[in-house]
Amino acid sequence: MAGRPRPLVVVTRKLPDGVETRMRELFDARLNLDDRPMSRADLAEAVKVADVLVPTLTDRIDSALLDKAVKLKLIANFGNGVDHIDVPAAIKRGIVVTNTPGVLTEDTADMTMALILAVPRRLVEGAEVLTGDKPWAGWSPTWMLGHRIWGKRLGILGMGRIGQAVARRARAFGLQIHYHNRRRVPAKVEEELGATYWESLDQMLARMDIISVNCPHTPATYHLLSARRLKLVRPQAYIVNTARGEIIDENALARLIESEDIAGAGLDVFEQEPAVSPRLLKLARAGKVVLLPHTGSATVEARTEMGEKVIVNVKTFLDGHKPPDRVLPSML
Ligand code: DGY
Repeated sequence: MAGRPRPLVVVTRKLPDGVETRMRELFDARLNLDDRPMSRADLAEAVKVADVLVPTLTDRIDSALLDKAVKLKLIANFGNGVDHIDVPAAIKRGIVVTNTPGVLTEDTADMTMALILAVPRRLVEGAEVLTGDKPWAGWSPTWMLGHRIWGKRLGILGMGRIGQAVARRARAFGLQIHYHNRRRVPAKVEEELGATYWESLDQMLARMDIISVNCPHTPATYHLLSARRLKLVRPQAYIVNTARGEIIDENALARLIESEDIAGAGLDVFEQEPAVSPRLLKLARAGKVVLLPHTGSATVEARTEMGEKVIVNVKTFLDGHKPPDRVLPSML
């Protein structure tokens, strides 16, 4: 007699080989081996047939799409940010949502630190001198000067796991740590990080030398760095964003860098990914900004551990238990 069919787990993008192998062993997994991003129609088909969907930040899972779900019970996101998923709409339909927190913290903090160094120290411009068309004319006392970061003030916007990991690194580089967060972190954490809390984001922005965006993108943080707030930033300050493009009004940022009202920016994320604003690209060519293609968590280790988290969430859920990384409306 044929057994009950196993629940179908549809994975929207290619995952690390080891993760896919384990998924095949454990589940009836429909994988995307050639990593072609799914169209809207592909996604609609996926939510129609899947018991479990494993999307990534490149898939828009909105309420209209969820209307097409027939037996979908779990969205086990491969990634930390869930701003591409309408979580309240999913929960309303009885669909559980999980993510992969914790395992990309250190890598994202490293990339944040890399940008904090790269912009004031003109790392990309310098590297391009050696690979450019003209030969390097040699060392000069006044050529390619950047700015020191030791002793400067770093304002961290979002003091969660990643913000704290950035603070730990930044302290070792001699930066003074300041932060703004929805909730003040416990005194013990402030003490460990030597961090000063600013209840007013406006006041913090007006006093920092470097601002690092490390909060999630939610309806409350959309354009948190609005045109008005960006105007408060000092002309010698730099802005770094490894969180989500939507948190900064990107056009306003580009305009203020063009007019030299902000010194520069290091951006790993963009408002219209994978499209990048031509204005930002022009500023990058002029050495005013450093742009990276959303590679904050792009290490073999992080992506493998993200996959392991997805597997644990799916397996626990299918075994009838609460998955460990449930996303709850109170987190949004
Ligand atoms: C996430 O998981 O949200 C990250 O942005 C992926 O790099």
